[in-house]
This record gives sequence, structure tokens and C-alpha cells, in this order.
Amino acid sequence: MTAKKSVRDIDVAGKAVLVRVDYNVPFHPGTTTISDDGRIRASLPTLEYLLERDCKLIICSHLGRPRGQVVEDMRLAPVSSRLSELLGKPVIQAPDCIGALVESAVASLPARGVLMLENLRFHSCEEKNDSDFAEALASLADVYVNDAFGTAHRAHASTEGVTRYLPSVAGFLMAKELEILGTALDSPRRPLAAIMGGAKVSDKIAVLERLVDRADIIIIGGGMAATFLKAQGHEIGDSLIEEERIGFASGLIARCESGSPQLLLPTDVVVADGFSQDANTRTVPVAEIPVGWRVLDIGPDTAEAFSEALRPCGTVIWNGPMGVFEWSAFAQGTVKIANVLAAMDDATTVMGGGSTAEAVESLGLSARMTHVSTGGGASLEFMEGRDLPGVAALLDAQSTDSVEAS
Ligand code: 3PG
Repeated sequence: MTAKKSVRDIDVAGKAVLVRVDYNVPFHPGTTTISDDGRIRASLPTLEYLLERDCKLIICSHLGRPRGQVVEDMRLAPVSSRLSELLGKPVIQAPDCIGALVESAVASLPARGVLMLENLRFHSCEEKNDSDFAEALASLADVYVNDAFGTAHRAHASTEGVTRYLPSVAGFLMAKELEILGTALDSPRRPLAAIMGGAKVSDKIAVLERLVDRADIIIIGGGMAATFLKAQGHEIGDSLIEEERIGFASGLIARCESGSPQLLLPTDVVVADGFSQDANTRTVPVAEIPVGWRVLDIGPDTAEAFSEALRPCGTVIWNGPMGVFEWSAFAQGTVKIANVLAAMDDATTVMGGGSTAEAVESLGLSARMTHVSTGGGASLEFMEGRDLPGVAALLDAQSTDSVEAS
């Protein structure tokens, strides 16, 4: 992807800046308490940089999927409060994201003032990338900064449409995500290992197809491993598999037969007699999965073999947990791999967003990794080699177009 201008490449001093962030954060169920504020923290370097330059900040984000309706539980007020605590200054919560009330809130915003617009997706125009809505958002500011890597795979009014009306550059989080993920894929320190897990093979096919030509080692765990075990000819009991992906799995196994890249699949697994955290469990070799049982984690021999292969690596990309890590009986594989990566001080360890980030965070190991992406779908699409519309729309680094705000 072409390099983009960043907030450092544009004169922002004293300007009104529309900052798109991804504050789509999780809450403790039934409360307004944020359970992981990582995405808010990750945006602070950009916000602080702009505040130091006397900008007025007009921050916008979506939260959840309200589908064009006002949903009380999806208001951004709890996020504004948390941001205010982290910035150490007031954050004004606007009642909407466009319209007269918002315009007057912007007009009365002082230098270094911070205004949070209401959830963008309360308007269906946001996801439709409606040009009037995008123009109305743009009219609030002089400059647009996109720091919402987690939403960069969406061509929405606040990520793509708005760039037609304002000088548009990347924030520091966006730039960092693109730099680290891009380097890990294009010029990694070798050996490069890719660990793929999670429930579905179909989610990872495009990434695997790209990585097979780049990685030195491919490791497969998680629910998706069952489809590969089936492709190897094993009985997999009641494990969920994707029948229509067995062909893909067989093809990948055949492609790796030469040992380049080296493909590592589970040799033992933790199985359960039901999909429940209290189910009976057993650890068995993959050739002995009992009828009626299902694979819910990699086994200890597999975790050890994966760890041995990972330790000498220069770069590791991890996307998808090794088992149902939310339940302690099936978390051991994920815990082991996370600890091994956390101890690899000389390696570059890059975690995809979504459930991999959640797993590493829940183990308190995020700070030990080189990078934990704030994007789930976005990091996956980036690794697939797809252009992210929210990035493509920003000014190219080499662009000589005026970056002077009006
Ligand atoms: C995410 O959490 O992955 C992003 O905020 C994007 O959310 P979406 O999948 O609802 O577009």
C-alpha cells in the first residue's frame, strides 16, 4: 500500500481538526463500564500532539452496530468520560454528530478544547458513505486525521467520504499499525512464523494464501485445526468443521510437503464431550479423538512443539487463539503460546486484533508483545493484501497536493 502523509506532514497549528478514532470498545455486560480501554489509550499520542499545537479537537467514532437508529446503550458518553480521565481535561459530549447544535458546539470550542460527536452510526448515512453526510462532518473542521485503524476496512462517510472535502492524513496509531504490520509481512526479520487459529478456516483462507509464499513456518491451531485434521484423514468426532474447506486444507498440506514453509498441525488435542466450560475433558492424540467428543484446544505436546518452533523466530504474526481460551479448561494452548511469545525479547511479535488481542490482554501480556493491533477485521484484511478504503483515501506521502487547510 502506498505510504501516506501523517499528521506530522501537515500544518495543524491552531486548526479545527476532525479526528476519526475507533472507540468501538467493549463494556462489562449490562453496565456502562468499559472493560478494555486499549483503543482509547492507543489514540492518545495523536490527540496529545494536536492539543500541544493548540488545535480544537472534534472527535468522531462509531460504537457497536445501531444500524441507523439511536440506541441508548450505544451512546458515547461513557467513552467521553474515560477519554476525559485519560487526557486530564474536559471532553464535551455533543448530542449528535451533525446539525445546528453540533455546529454551535464547535463554534464555541476554544483552542485545545475537545468535543466528542455522538455515535456516527446513529445515522444510516454513515455506513452508506452518503456524500451530504460526509460533507456535513467535514464542514466542522479544517483538517481531517484518521486514526481509526480498526475501521479502516470500511468505506464509510467518516472514513472515506469525508476525505473528499478536507486535507486528510493519518494519525500516529494508523501510521504505526500500517508500519508494523507492513514490515512484518513485507520485510520481516526471519524466520517468519504465522500462527493461525480461531474458529473458522474460511476467515483465514485469504491470509493463509498470502502467507504461504512469505512465511517460513505456518502453525495451525484453534477450532479451524479440526478441518485440517479431517483433511489428514483423522476422525474428528463432533468437532465443528467446514466440509467445503477440506479441499483447501488438503491443498495447503500438500503445498507445504516440501517443508517450505514448514506447516505445523496439532498432534494432540484437548477434547470435550460437549460445548460447555463444565464438559468432561480428555487429552488425546489426534488419531484417537473419541466419537461424540469435540476438539476445544491444542494438547500439551502440540503446545510444546509449536513453542520449540517459535523460539528461534525473528518475527511472529499471530491471528486467532489456539482454543476456547475464555474457558480455563481450554485455555492452556493459548496461554502457553502467549507466554512463549512474551519471552521472545529479540523477536518482533505482532498480534492481530479481535480475539487474539483479547486473549493476550486477558493474560496481562500485551505490553510484552511488540505490537497488539487495535484492528480485528482491519488487520485481517490488511494481511490479506487488500487495500483499506480508509487508508487509500488519505493523501499519499509523495503527494504535492496542497495540505494547507482552508
Ligand atoms: C471493530 O471493532 O472491528 C471495528 O470497530 C469495526 O466494527 P464493525 O465490524 O462493526 O464495522
